[in-house]
Amino acid sequence: MNDATRTVEEAPWGAVDRPRRCGFGAAVRALSGAVIVDLMALASGAVGATGALSNNGPVSTPSIFAPVSTPAFAIGGLSYFVLGICAVIYVVVAALLTYSIIRFRRRRGEDNREPPQVYGSNQIELAWTVVPVLIVFVLFLATARYIFGIEGHEPPSQTLQVTVVGHQWWWEIRYPDLGIVTANELHVPASDPANPSPTFLTLESADVIHSFWVPQLAGKLDVIPNKTNRTWIDPHTPGLYVGQCAEFCGVQHAWMLLRVIVHPKDEFDAWVAEQQAPAVDERVARTGRDVFGSVACINCHTVRGTTANGIFGPDLTHLMSRSTLGAGVAANTPENLRAWVENPAGLKPGALMPAMQLSRRDLDELVAYLLTLR
Ligand code: CUA
Repeated sequence: MNDATRTVEEAPWGAVDRPRRCGFGAAVRALSGAVIVDLMALASGAVGATGALSNNGPVSTPSIFAPVSTPAFAIGGLSYFVLGICAVIYVVVAALLTYSIIRFRRRRGEDNREPPQVYGSNQIELAWTVVPVLIVFVLFLATARYIFGIEGHEPPSQTLQVTVVGHQWWWEIRYPDLGIVTANELHVPASDPANPSPTFLTLESADVIHSFWVPQLAGKLDVIPNKTNRTWIDPHTPGLYVGQCAEFCGVQHAWMLLRVIVHPKDEFDAWVAEQQAPAVDERVARTGRDVFGSVACINCHTVRGTTANGIFGPDLTHLMSRSTLGAGVAANTPENLRAWVENPAGLKPGALMPAMQLSRRDLDELVAYLLTLR
């Protein structure tokens, strides 16, 4: 067990690493999940990109009430605590109100005299000042305790370090210790609660303020230019977890989606080996590679092992290993890829990648080349 996880597991809020299974929680989870999935289906349908989010099997619910990682368990627990207090306040206020409405209503046959007016009551005024102050104080203490429990520790050695860079409008994902650069898909190993292997994330921005948010894994954290923020996740269950930019960052803010793929340990190692390999060089795709090298593509994109070493756009060395294009705007299929290269703004208005005005033949060759970048 490493230091980071021990700190949180021993933190005073108790069993943060176990999902709650109460009926209320399940109901909220089901409800919020259904609503969010509907919204996302609606959103992807609206731009003709249905399936962009679901081409890797069922999409998990991006809900804080379905946590799978220690910081998210803590946040889920705190949310239930705050909801509980608010529910009690609501019931008390609603009950008093209902009682007063019924008990002191105007009755038939009553004259119109004003009832006795009462002014000044030290007890009542004290009560409605002190009780809310105490409630706010309790909420403040609980929140502060959770914040320090999640943020207040340094990454242990031997931890997977990932740098996430927000761009308008995509996520650059770098694994400095592994020599991997990819985009819009964060691959991490699952963490066994008995023997935790958390992933530490360093958040940076290349342009404006973004916000990193994968609700099932950790809290929302701003991604700020010239500032480095840090967070961590230790997903217990392999699967796909979706997130997105949570700070308005320009016209395509809504299409700045992020997929976190949590692998079992050995599957993650296989993914790393695949990503570390240089780009394949297929003889049949040489013409397309030359097209790629002769137009402005290489100013912005890197394909490791070739002359393309631009860093403004996503690294394309293993482009076809990713499931979506344009940070989730469309599924990464040959047809969509062709449409994307031909005119990115057609799929994602405002996208900073220009249409290269290629001839039909060049476009075909170029796409054929990109399709080999597995
Ligand atoms: Cu990036 Cu919103």
